[in-house]
Amino acid sequence: MEHDFWHQRWREGRIGFHQQAFNRWLTEYWSRLNVAPDARVLVPLCGKSRDMLWLREQGHAVLGVELSDIACRDFFYEQGVEVTPVTVDNYHRRERDGITLITADLFELPWEVFRGIGAVYDRAALIALPPAMRRRYAQRLVQRIEPGVEMLLVTLEFGDESGPPFAVFENEVRDLFEPAFTVIRLAAEAPANARRDDEREVVYLLHRQ
Ligand SMILES: C[S@@+](CC[C@H](N)C(=O)[O-])C[C@H]1O[C@@H](n2cnc3c(N)ncnc32)[C@H](O)[C@@H]1O
Repeated sequence: MEHDFWHQRWREGRIGFHQQAFNRWLTEYWSRLNVAPDARVLVPLCGKSRDMLWLREQGHAVLGVELSDIACRDFFYEQGVEVTPVTVDNYHRRERDGITLITADLFELPWEVFRGIGAVYDRAALIALPPAMRRRYAQRLVQRIEPGVEMLLVTLEFGDESGPPFAVFENEVRDLFEPAFTVIRLAAEAPANARRDDEREVVYLLHRQ
């Protein structure tokens, strides 16, 4: 998607993807990952997801990457803190109590930013991207994520071509990530707020070989 598409959505507050409650797949399946309790978790395309608070509660340091500065600002603002951004190279960084948010295009971030990542949590990141960008996104993770690191990935399946969110089926997840990652499909269920009859949320565990 073009940057402007997302910037406009954040400016206008059209963020129906944002959840007040912690994601049920995260809270139910995170313990299935082999992740050190103090591992640094990458949350790509993080928006202002409250799931980052849950991850911190588990003892993790969190690194969120998000295009929208509004989202990064509001994440902290909604916790009652104003965090002054620090400009590093061409991006903004805000950091407080174990959560670091970088305002940047994920695809333009330098390698160093990903150093020391011990796990990845993707909810509504892969499925926010159109097909060609999904491939770039997966390639980025393959290039940047070290062997042994695991990832919890939540996707959506449904039968039409609209988006975002885009439907991403298991064959595509495997095509994008295998063989660099092993892919285990953990569960699938219709979301409580499904917009289509055939909609399924699917959760995967990916292990970087
Ligand atoms: C569907 S939202 C999901 C946000 C979050 N994961 C959640 O669960 O609430 C997708 C987010 O990705 C951000 N985004 C889109 N393209 C991006 C890119 N290239 N780099 C960083 N963030 C991006 C958008 O601004 C938007 O906030």
